[in-house]
Amino acid sequence: MIHLTKNTAFIDQYGRQKRKLRISVTDRCNFKCSYCMPEHPEWIKKHKLLSFEALYQFCKFMVEHGIEQIRITGGEPLMRQGVVHFIAQLQNLKPFGLKRISMTTNGHYLSQYALSLKQAGLDDLNVSLDSLDEQQFKQLTQKSIKPVLAGIAEAQLVGLKVKINCVLIKHCNENQILPLVHWAKHHHIELRFIEFMPLDGDQRWSTTQVVTEQEILSELTTEFKKIDMVNQAHEPARRYIVDGTVIGIISTISHSFCHQCDRLRLTAQGDFYNCLFAEKGLNIKSLLEKLDEHNPEILDLEKQLYYAIWFKEKGFSEIYSKSKSNLRKISMHMLGG
Ligand code: GTP
Ligand code: 5AD
Ligand code: SF4
Repeated sequence: MIHLTKNTAFIDQYGRQKRKLRISVTDRCNFKCSYCMPEHPEWIKKHKLLSFEALYQFCKFMVEHGIEQIRITGGEPLMRQGVVHFIAQLQNLKPFGLKRISMTTNGHYLSQYALSLKQAGLDDLNVSLDSLDEQQFKQLTQKSIKPVLAGIAEAQLVGLKVKINCVLIKHCNENQILPLVHWAKHHHIELRFIEFMPLDGDQRWSTTQVVTEQEILSELTTEFKKIDMVNQAHEPARRYIVDGTVIGIISTISHSFCHQCDRLRLTAQGDFYNCLFAEKGLNIKSLLEKLDEHNPEILDLEKQLYYAIWFKEKGFSEIYSKSKSNLRKISMHMLGG
């Protein structure tokens, strides 16, 4: 029998307290990154999406249970109408313990939205940029790089804190490591290289396509003499100072940070995932739609989440070694990374 109070923190069986929540506001995306989107995506029907009202109630509930950071993801989050207003509304949770509101975007619509995101109080933004080569970028995403570069420039101009994400794939864009580091230095921007994870829509991932942290570091040492590691704390990226510039490496495959994981996720249709690699989610849409603190349903939600979180698996390797075939039914575009 569990007794929950309003401020009971969510913690899992390995003692990892949950402080970060990632919310996917849409599965739709105008890009088709080969490492993410399936060739023929089946979009969630609009009426099946969680409303922003329900999402807000959920965020409030989660902040009351210890969540300090909320990241808005997609698909492409800027494709959901109303997202800027939602960010402004989330500011109401800051006096109750929310410390940071972030977004991860493909950058395509960023020029248009940067100023309103800043005005809505967004604290920081991560933008995907997998190549600086126009043709390679197009090959990877099926879209043009130009609006993305313009969007990043605009975000910096309005004073948004920006980080760049680059997923590296062997024999594809690994030649971009050094050019991207030079670009990041020039633009005074933090860059993270990401090991390709088995969450692509068409499940074509194989270990042979992963550019490992060690390989990335070897490439960096061909040009940079001084590379110092900085401590990693509850962040997926291991950070290095490369001749004065911060370069992160998110190495889930070769060196996962699961032992420190403090994250939870919700999909756009209200499926709650306790891990990026969890095989199944828990659908809480109907509970969220009725959520209000005077409603007895809130106790139900508390209990269901408490158990879903408690039984979070130890980590990626454990889930991966247990799963017989492909890891998952849903891919990255539905879970938002
Ligand atoms: P910061 O708070 O800025 O560190 O953001 P982030 O790196 O958590 O978020 P972002 O959306 O930019 O994700 C960058 C990469 O990290 C993506 O490839 C995500 O899939 C991956 N990532 C984010 N959270 C997790 C996680 O809990 N586990 C694993 N394995 N990867 C994650
Ligand atoms: N492996 C690693 N990172 C991925 N992302 C999307 N799919 C994958 C994958 N299969 C990243 C995107 C984006 C973030 C939300 O997740 O590049 O930056
Ligand atoms: Fe869209 Fe992001 Fe997936 Fe690329 S990685 S297809 S930009 S959701």
